[in-house]
Amino acid sequence: MTATHGSEPSVGVSELSYTPEVAHATAPIYERLRTVIPEIEWSVHAPLIAAINELKQQRNAIILAHNYQTPEIFHGVADLSGDSLALARQAVETDAEVIVLCGVHFMAETAKLLNPEKTVLIPDLEAGCSLAASIRAEDVRLLRQRYPSVPVVTYVNTSAAVKAESDICCTSANAVEVVESLGSERVIFLPDEFLGLHIAGLTEVEVIIWKGHCEVHERFTAEELSAYRRQFPDIEILAHPECPPDVLAEADFVGSTSAMIRHVGQERPKRVVMVTECSMSDNVAVEFPEIDFIRPCNLCPHMKRITLPKILATLENLEHRVEVSAQVAGPARRALERMLAVGQGASR
Ligand code: 13P
Ligand code: SF4
Repeated sequence: MTATHGSEPSVGVSELSYTPEVAHATAPIYERLRTVIPEIEWSVHAPLIAAINELKQQRNAIILAHNYQTPEIFHGVADLSGDSLALARQAVETDAEVIVLCGVHFMAETAKLLNPEKTVLIPDLEAGCSLAASIRAEDVRLLRQRYPSVPVVTYVNTSAAVKAESDICCTSANAVEVVESLGSERVIFLPDEFLGLHIAGLTEVEVIIWKGHCEVHERFTAEELSAYRRQFPDIEILAHPECPPDVLAEADFVGSTSAMIRHVGQERPKRVVMVTECSMSDNVAVEFPEIDFIRPCNLCPHMKRITLPKILATLENLEHRVEVSAQVAGPARRALERMLAVGQGASR
């Protein structure tokens, strides 16, 4: 029988061990992951995975995981996964009473804004984002004073308070469609400078740009990419649009995390490098063992705050709840819903 999320959980962290039953129950998951997780580590992950998968049913909970989560989370316990746009869409569609968002805080806040009646939990409240930290609501108000009547397009990698000051949100998957949907000759785009420059190169709309950066993607260099090309002349280079312009110029394909995954699935290159957070390549390599993934490793320290023990604790204690004040939630939700109405737009 499926209990509701208010009932007492039956699994305790201290009781976990790698029993033959746990080994048997998790064997099919490990078969898929053995190329990216050493066997010795599996004895640590498996009891947690078994406990989380049991408890999430008792709690009537669903686990949404971003593409940057580690493979034991992404392939072991996530019910649904994707880029920021897919997570926002899936958050609207779920029937579960509890959403556990394995990603960073703005993603959990987005899920809460779109599901005000549901319990939305994040395993670590400190999982932030350098882009979200680069701008405050008062900065947006000042921009509006400086550029009266220019619409504000806000990347979802922002706080709810910043979204509440915005006309519409976007993700890296739909940014150009969103900018062009407004029918304006100029837009203010915030907070990612490099994504803003990338969009400006793809549209006739004039883009006024804030200078926030992703601390993970800004570290990639064009020299690094040309060195890959010299070493592996047949390599296909895919890059996230949060990378600097000279890095994007060196890439064969630029797109959101899910667009990169889709590209690999469609094109099946012999050898590929995904210029983005480390765990993406591990997660995708599981699906395409025949492809050689060259793996530069820039970790997102915020994404890596999410771990299996924290996910289990989240489900056991129904913490940490993500809440947004009613005053901020109304206008922030409108900006998100306006984005979702623009259409799938998942081609980038
Ligand atoms: P995506 O929406 O492309 O998954 O990007 C989110 C993110 O935080 C990239 O750093
Ligand atoms: Fe934020 Fe960059 Fe981490 Fe994505 S990778 S969550 S943009 S800090």
